[in-house]
Formats: sequence, structure tokens, C-alpha cells
Amino acid sequence: MTERPIYLDHNATTPVDPRVFTAMTPYLTSEWGNPSSSHAYGVRAHAALEDARARVAALIGANPSEIVFTGSGSEADALAIRGAALAALTSDPRFAGTLTRTRPHVITQATEHPAVLAACQELADLHGVEVTMLPVDGAGRLSPDDVAAAITPATVLVTVMHANNETGTLQPLREIAAVTHARGVLLHTDAAQSVGKVPVDVRELGVDLLTVVGHKMYAPKGIAALYVRDGVALRPLVGGGGQEHGLRAGTENVAYAVGLGRAADLAIASLAAGESARLADLRDRLEARLRDLLPGRVHLNGHRTERLPNTLNVRIDGVRALTLLAAVPSVAASAGSACHAGRDRPSPVLTAMGLGEREALTALRLSVGRWTTAEEIDSAAEAIARAAAEA
Ligand SMILES: Cc1ncc(COP(=O)(O)O)c(C=O)c1O
Repeated sequence: MTERPIYLDHNATTPVDPRVFTAMTPYLTSEWGNPSSSHAYGVRAHAALEDARARVAALIGANPSEIVFTGSGSEADALAIRGAALAALTSDPRFAGTLTRTRPHVITQATEHPAVLAACQELADLHGVEVTMLPVDGAGRLSPDDVAAAITPATVLVTVMHANNETGTLQPLREIAAVTHARGVLLHTDAAQSVGKVPVDVRELGVDLLTVVGHKMYAPKGIAALYVRDGVALRPLVGGGGQEHGLRAGTENVAYAVGLGRAADLAIASLAAGESARLADLRDRLEARLRDLLPGRVHLNGHRTERLPNTLNVRIDGVRALTLLAAVPSVAASAGSACHAGRDRPSPVLTAMGLGEREALTALRLSVGRWTTAEEIDSAAEAIARAAAEA
């Protein structure tokens, strides 16, 4: 069998942890009850679902009643953003269900994931919601002062990601939460990339809504969760059987929820065992090796310290990232966002940070994970540097 490439693309997706798979399998085989059924099959499925909910809640410092399972991170983002704005549009007396009065207002920022940007665009296009897109600085950070200045009496929601998927840059969420609380505005954060990599506590951050994504933390694709602070009103995107506290109709995917619950346990254990520091060591080793092998040609994108421990986004002068990656089949990494892989267009995240098109096209996104080794880092750095030197 040919050897598989060294995987340095954990922000795109992670492998399923074998312990997650083991926890899930009974719910794909013998334990197939519908958690809404009142007989023994349903009771067992319901118990497993609620146990998983409690585990996900424990990972982020929430109450189990504040966790809603969804089918993807994109769906959790849409439920938070559209759900909060539509709840305001239909029940807040300021808007009184008519667009002839003040329009509800939502604030976001330029480096959000397309799932967030699309949810905001949908509100603007279909529901007359006013959307403000705030800029970021050269490291990709949003200024809490800009958030404060953008809030109007009609603002219902601010949505700002915790960590960026391409650069790993962390936003100053606590400071932004202080602003939104003082002004009575809800704060949603897409924490798809930070949960499991750094400690995330919803109360400490002060957020009202938070997105967790399974396939970024060693659970399968197709399962995610939204934290909805007790007392926050959302309008569901899908109605029907009243599952998930009435916020997401559809018979729950018990096996995948159990997988996310087990992944949450493992994340708690690995954070307690110092995983963030181990990831940061590997990330920094990779950068140091590249700088040694390509003197003067390697430049960091994103914030040097306020950054995910596993993420390295670098420009290598003189070579387009897609050309470079094609020349290094032994390494699996991304140029710009994996969601747009294959298209040689500059990343909107990097251009929002002020990079020119040529510079942005040289950006390489490398992200380490649970099973990455120092040997893999050294081999990958050598392979990348060799190809860059020959380019
Ligand atoms: C920051 C961020 N938000 C949302 C998502 C979307 O998650 P999903 O692929 O489960 O819809 C991703 C994954 O690409 C992400 O990186």
C-alpha cells in the first residue's frame, strides 16, 4: 500500500477518534430506538441522547438544557443568526412584524466563515434586516470599539467567530461581550475551530449563542450543536415534531450525538493533559523549520500570540500555494480556505486583513492535530521547503 500523505489540514476536518466510533456503534446497530418513543427502545435512545447533551454542555460550561443538536456547523450558525433576528422581527415591539418601521440590525465582521456570511445575507435579502460588516486589522482582529460604535437602537445580534479557520486568529470575545451586554444585544460566536483546541467556557466568554462542530473535534461530519443561553428566544428554521426544545424538528441522530458527546469527553481530558501546549510546540516547530530552510521567505499571517495553538498560516515568497502543494503530494494541507480548495482565488480572509492578491495567493494553511508527530512536522517542512526552493 502506498503511504498516505502527512495530514496537516485539521482545520478542514479531523479524523474520527476510534473511541468516538466505538461509542457510536451500538446506536447504529442494536440501539436503534426513536428517542421520542415512550417504550423501552425509545427510553434507551432518549437516555443516550441526554447523556451526550450533558457531555457537550460540560465541555463548554453550559447547562444540558442549553444545548441543541444540529446536522452541521453551518446549520447551527444559521439557527443562531436567522433564529435570533427572526425572533426579534416577529415578537419585538420595536419591529412589530412590519418592515415599514425600524428594521432589525445585525453586526458581523469580514473574516467570518461563509456559513455566517450567508445567514446574514439571507436576512438582508429576504427579511429586510440591515447588516453591518465590520473590518479587521492586519492580524484579522476586530476592535470592540468598532462594535460599540456600530450598535444602534435597532441592533439585535452581533455575530463574531471565536477563532478563524484559516489563520487561527482569536477574536477579543470577552471585550466584545462586555459591549453587547451593556447595550442589551445578543452575541453569537462560531466556535467551530476553538472548541477542543483551547478552553472554551460560555459564561466566561459571556456569549449568548455558540456553535460547536463535531468534525473539527474528532467526531464525524454531520453533527454539531448550538449553545442557546437559557432565556434567549430563537425562531426555529425547521418546524415539526418539537424535538430539541422545539428549536430543530427532526428525529435526532442519536448515534452521531453520542459521538459528539464522547468527543467532548476526550476534548476535556486532552485539554486537561496539556494538549494546547503540545499542539503549539508542533506548530512552532513547523514554522521554525520552514524559516531555517527558507531564510527570509516565510511570513506569518494572523496574530502571533492570540491564535489557535494548532494553526500556522504562512506566506512563502515567490511561489503560489496551490502550485507548491501540487508539487508536494506527501503533505495534505490547504491554500487559503479548504471550503474553496482548488480555486486559485485569493482568500477573502487574507484580503480583509489587507494582503494584496499576489501575497494572498502564496498563503499556506497548515493545521496540526491529535496524532501529528514531530517526525511528521520535520518531514513536511523539508518537503515543502525543497519544493519552494525549486520553484
Ligand atoms: C469556522 C467554521 N464555521 C463553520 C463551519 C461549517 O461547519 P460544517 O462543515 O459542519 O457545516 C466550519 C467548517 O468548515 C468552520 O471552519
